[in-house]
Amino acid sequence: MSWIDEAVVYQVYVRSFADGNGDGVGDLAGMTGRLEHLASLGVDAVWLSPCFQSPQADHGYDVSDYTAVDPLFGTVADLEAFVAEAHARGIRVMLDLVPNHCSVEHAWFREALAAPAGSPARARFHFADGRGLDGELPPNNWGSVFGGPGWTRLSDGQWYLHSFDASQPDLNWGCDEVLEMMDDVLRFWFDRGVDGFRVDVAHGLVKREGLPDWTGAPGSSNEFMWNQPGVHDIYRRWRKIAYEYGACFVGEVWVASVADLMAYASPDELGQAFDFHLLVQPWHAPSIRGAVEHGLRPGTAWALANHDVHRPATRYGQAQLIEEPDPADMLASARRRGPVDLPLGRRRAVAASMLMLALPGAAYLYQGDELALPEVLDLPHSVRQDPIWLRSGGSELGRDGCRVPMPWTAEPDTFGFTQAPAAWLPQPEAFGALSVEVQEQEPWSALAVLRRAVRARKGLFTGDELTWLEADPDVVAFRRGRSICVLNTSGRELALPGDWGPVRVSSVPIDGRILPTDACAWLSVAEGGDGVSPSPTPATAGTTKES
Ligand code: NOJ
Repeated sequence: MSWIDEAVVYQVYVRSFADGNGDGVGDLAGMTGRLEHLASLGVDAVWLSPCFQSPQADHGYDVSDYTAVDPLFGTVADLEAFVAEAHARGIRVMLDLVPNHCSVEHAWFREALAAPAGSPARARFHFADGRGLDGELPPNNWGSVFGGPGWTRLSDGQWYLHSFDASQPDLNWGCDEVLEMMDDVLRFWFDRGVDGFRVDVAHGLVKREGLPDWTGAPGSSNEFMWNQPGVHDIYRRWRKIAYEYGACFVGEVWVASVADLMAYASPDELGQAFDFHLLVQPWHAPSIRGAVEHGLRPGTAWALANHDVHRPATRYGQAQLIEEPDPADMLASARRRGPVDLPLGRRRAVAASMLMLALPGAAYLYQGDELALPEVLDLPHSVRQDPIWLRSGGSELGRDGCRVPMPWTAEPDTFGFTQAPAAWLPQPEAFGALSVEVQEQEPWSALAVLRRAVRARKGLFTGDELTWLEADPDVVAFRRGRSICVLNTSGRELALPGDWGPVRVSSVPIDGRILPTDACAWLSVAEGGDGVSPSPTPATAGTTKES
């Protein structure tokens, strides 16, 4: 049993959290200054999006030096200071490791560019000759996740592989030097008190031997690029290092089968991996139940959001299409389209967070979701920065809309985010009323509810066992330990059975024992009662409310 198994982890998107030096971009000093917010939320740990040296082509997921902090965010000393301050408040710190690829500005890639084809410097990456008469065609048919080909050609005629942007060359994990370098990176940060790492595209590091053409159906997930068996040797190796420090990992793993996911999350490998099925579900009780079932096992990290997907408050306020997620494009599956009923979406988002917090396993909150912030869908095209936007020629809006800086106060123009006249992405006017300062004054704000929920969670929900309670098909209800979580998606009010005990936390005010629609409640079963009476009944005209 490790602290991370049941942790509430708060994801900080560093450039959008708080700006300490007044340049309009969030940084480590800004984060340290806002640690009280995290302490008052009651989270166990933070995961920081990458703050290593980087040209920022993919906002830090393009690392040019894994043991340096980018000056945009501060220094290694600032990071150490942040770790110390977080630890002083009982908050652990996880960094974001990007092992699949580095940056074209990494010293190794520069060296590779200067070295001839076939050289050891090129063996640290995937360089290959092209096909066609003159090598003018890429070495295989693999595409980039961000759109376009997965290969870029150099002036000397060779091509290099990049699963993402051309600025992010894939490292060759068949090369011992790569393995050794990343061992050193782990130790470097563990020696500085870092408690663990989120591992970026953990299923991507190893490629199919020989890099053959993908022969599956067009548009299907390229099984030669992802989830190769050899990747597990890497994580067994890292586990031994982490063991020396008592450190931990959580893997960003997008694989279709539960058995495959379990291998990454096994205790001798990463120990924990995200199960994204809950994140991609619409507001539909049977789908939500199915996703919970999907993730019920040791080592699950739950999330409803992160820096790559549309925010829940917006998703749940759009038309809810009941369809199976596309395993080849789970990110797209997380997106909804059409007009947004934001008050409804925000209310559902808070309820969904409460459901997630009641589950066995670790729960990850993305910054701003404690405020139920909306996705900013109408950013001017001129300010968009995401490589997805750039590489798709503007046909995909990309992920900037969930990365808009945090509103701390009601004060325009930057709502306490920065002393600069403007934040790196413009914040909508509506952020003022959703700011931390404003929500702190409201007893039923998203912030107030989630503070209560995060703090109550561990006392109320214990053990790994979850028992479904028979309920209306449009209601998700389960018991865990001595507590019950009930989520009402039915569109109707529900009368909560008396033997389910008193309501401890709810996403909206509860009048008597009536749970309104689009709401979640936690109850604790009375001593002696088994708390599993058949089902909450729809409230009808004849149902009496307790006064
Ligand atoms: C997954 C990260 O979450 C995403 O933000 C990034 O662009 C890609 N991996 C590439 O590193």
